[in-house]
Amino acid sequence: MALQITKAKRIKELPPYLFAEIDRRKREALARGVDLIDLGIGDPDIPTPSPIIEKLVESASKPVNHRYPNSSGMAEFREAVARWYKHRFNVALDPAKEVVSLIGSKEAIGNMAVAFVDPGDIVLVSSPCYPVYHIGTAFNGGENYFLPLKKENQFLPDLDSIPADIARQAKLLWINYPNNPTGAVADKDFFARVVEFANRYNVIVCHDAAYTEMGYDGYRPMSFLEVDGAKEVGIEFHSLSKTFNMTGWRIGMAVGNPELVGGLAQAKSNLDSGIFQAIQEAGIEALNLGDKIVEPSRKIYQERRDILVDGLRAVGLECDKPRATFYVWVSVPKGLSSAEFTAKLLDEAGVVTTPGNGFGAAGEGYVRFTVCVDKTRLKEVAERIRQVKL
Ligand SMILES: Cc1ncc(COP(=O)(O)O)c(C=O)c1O
Repeated sequence: MALQITKAKRIKELPPYLFAEIDRRKREALARGVDLIDLGIGDPDIPTPSPIIEKLVESASKPVNHRYPNSSGMAEFREAVARWYKHRFNVALDPAKEVVSLIGSKEAIGNMAVAFVDPGDIVLVSSPCYPVYHIGTAFNGGENYFLPLKKENQFLPDLDSIPADIARQAKLLWINYPNNPTGAVADKDFFARVVEFANRYNVIVCHDAAYTEMGYDGYRPMSFLEVDGAKEVGIEFHSLSKTFNMTGWRIGMAVGNPELVGGLAQAKSNLDSGIFQAIQEAGIEALNLGDKIVEPSRKIYQERRDILVDGLRAVGLECDKPRATFYVWVSVPKGLSSAEFTAKLLDEAGVVTTPGNGFGAAGEGYVRFTVCVDKTRLKEVAERIRQVKL
């Protein structure tokens, strides 16, 4: 008799995969030989800077690096993270207790719930958002309470709108600035309000800071930990992925409150065995070089952002010019849903984008474009969209 295979409830209860339809249409278009411009993915197309690759090659041949790494990261990597935080944000961190290495920030965002969310706990999550925040809650039996990000609030959550009984029961609050998918940024005032909220209701703040280095026109996004009292209530997730064009390498860090960093490290040490040490040594090189190797990518993304936003506006689409991230959050023309507009862009213009509602119900009415293709292709986008019947 065939084995009866039943997936776990947590998998069966995953929200419907809203990108499935767009994936299907994309595959069909490619099979028809359509020349697609893919602005759907947030994955840098620019290669990792060569000094990082050279360091990996050198480090990969050292036998000491072939053994199990420490799950929390090499002392030298954690020291490099602390030095980078001091230099970049003027935030002092104890590398032994306030820094943990991550196999990319995604796993740790999920594992944060393993460490801190019990069944029935409430987690406050933005909508739209990077989906791992609420998936982590759901996988661990918690309840998500969604905070809509609205244009009239500069795409910041309205903390005052959270009912007091929900706030009192909340265990974690996830925030992410510069923001995926809206491209919004947060200032010191907002972060100070978050610290005040966390203290009033005893809520742990998890700030996902993956995009702090992708700021344009001289704008340097801040760390949540720069705000007074932030380290008492929070942990910040960071990643070398977007900063150094290293998404495939899988290396990041979480920093902040030692009890939160320690709790996350404890969960992780039971589930993973850390990052290949040669990659950590390459990561140290990346952090030590810092802006010297980030600035060229920033210039490229800024130029692309201008081309895309100017082009979209020229064909009558409404969007803000993001001050950071490589995402442009575009309002859907009247009469269409996010899914319909995304499908039209794909079928009639060969331009792949992501429907806003794929990031949460409150993303309906928007479509996300990325700038992860070269400028020649980006210049074509507006011309192609001009042909679409809206
Ligand atoms: C907001 C945000 N956080 C975290 C991640 C995960 O990045 P990584 O796991 O590569 O560090 C992403 C990736 O797209 C992201 O957009």
